[in-house]
Amino acid sequence: MLLRTLGIVWLATAAMAQDARRHPAGSRDQGLPIDPLRFRPYAAAADDACNEVFRRLWLQHEAPAEVAAVLPREGPVAFDAGWVHKKRKGGEADGRWFGGDGRQLPLEKLTDDDAEALLPLLARLRAAPPAFTTPELAVLFQHDLLRAAQRLADARNNPDVVAALWATAAALALPAEALAKLTDPLASATAANAELRAALPQVLGGEVTGCREVLRRSTRLFDAEYTCSWSRVFLRHPDGDEALASMLPTSGDGPTVPIGMGAVLVQGIVALGADGKAHATPMIVDVRTQVLVNRDGLAATNQTFTHDGIDFGIWQLERQAVRTGAAAAFFRSVQADDQDMFRDYGTLKHTTYRGQCTLCHRVTDTPEPHLAGLPVLRPHAKAAFAVTGDERQRLAEQQAQKLFDALAKGPATAGEKAK
Ligand code: HEC
Repeated sequence: MLLRTLGIVWLATAAMAQDARRHPAGSRDQGLPIDPLRFRPYAAAADDACNEVFRRLWLQHEAPAEVAAVLPREGPVAFDAGWVHKKRKGGEADGRWFGGDGRQLPLEKLTDDDAEALLPLLARLRAAPPAFTTPELAVLFQHDLLRAAQRLADARNNPDVVAALWATAAALALPAEALAKLTDPLASATAANAELRAALPQVLGGEVTGCREVLRRSTRLFDAEYTCSWSRVFLRHPDGDEALASMLPTSGDGPTVPIGMGAVLVQGIVALGADGKAHATPMIVDVRTQVLVNRDGLAATNQTFTHDGIDFGIWQLERQAVRTGAAAAFFRSVQADDQDMFRDYGTLKHTTYRGQCTLCHRVTDTPEPHLAGLPVLRPHAKAAFAVTGDERQRLAEQQAQKLFDALAKGPATAGEKAK
């Protein structure tokens, strides 16, 4: 009993320690970083070279191009048709810290100060590669470098830093055998965390039965040439497997999704190996669950994530939690009203997760209400059951290889590719 009590106190302390890095729930800047120096993903020392590289890439003080009306400081938002699109142009006064130990990369262009600081830091890491406490942390750090290189090349900025990021990612690459032996942080977290177990399919270590993986033709959002990640989607029909099978292949306008229909999307890291090749690792870093709760229409009183019947669960791997080691706390549960900087359309936009996810996933105010916010069931996505379960990892390796080959040829070529 005592041990159990101690365990709970200790977990609560771990959660509080993480919260201290971000503005708390209910505040004007909920979920945004408070101060970059609080982020120490790769070592306890704030001035560790990997921490500093991370901070200069993944934390940006900047003004968004667009500010969504759903932010609390924009005043109350009425949840009626179009709420999700309401926004204004951002200005200097909207500048603040964005990013941190999550999955959204707010980087667009480095300040001269950051670019000048990064070049010698990266050179130092190449000359004397850091000793990470686990190979998983080495892969996370390399992924941070590769995503930043892709972004800067895509935005056609800081070509000298892009070249240095690529060279450093290559210098830190692990051999293929080591990549194959990595452990999946989601599997460890799920084993230790009942909330995750209740949300996830059995194939991901959870308790939810009746989920089947579907392959699909993805949009650019899920193309590893841009994300360095693989992605898998699982669907669950409330009436079971046969009912799900009868929905596929989708035809006409696509099926009418029943209440209770669920989906899970996980994304994992594609690493650059010492052989110069793309390797899909087992490391999952982003988890999203979705369920159609009702079709009661759009209203402030419809207490769902989208306010029109869909609920989401969002979990993002925290590097710092992986370093400090309590598996139950590896993933941060992101709240609907947490804020972030999103760049899905090439424009930096400050909004909440509720605002962002609802843009593409909603029941009302779309030409396809029958799909209930499940774009994977659009006929042109050609959803079909997976056979081996590694189809998406192999596809992502081919896609990421294009990015790696382009970066190897030079930042200009990578920018060209990424357009
Ligand atoms: C720019 C549009 C867009 C945004 C924004 C977006 N998604 Fe999606 N999402 C998609 C598309 C398109 C798919 C279909 C899968 C594919 O293309 O491979 C999808 C798939 C999914 C799925 C799998 C089942 C399905 O078809 O819905 C889940 C779960 C999901 N998204 C959750 C989220 C969450 C949570 C957010 C907010 C963090 C989000 N999405 C933001 C476009 C978007």
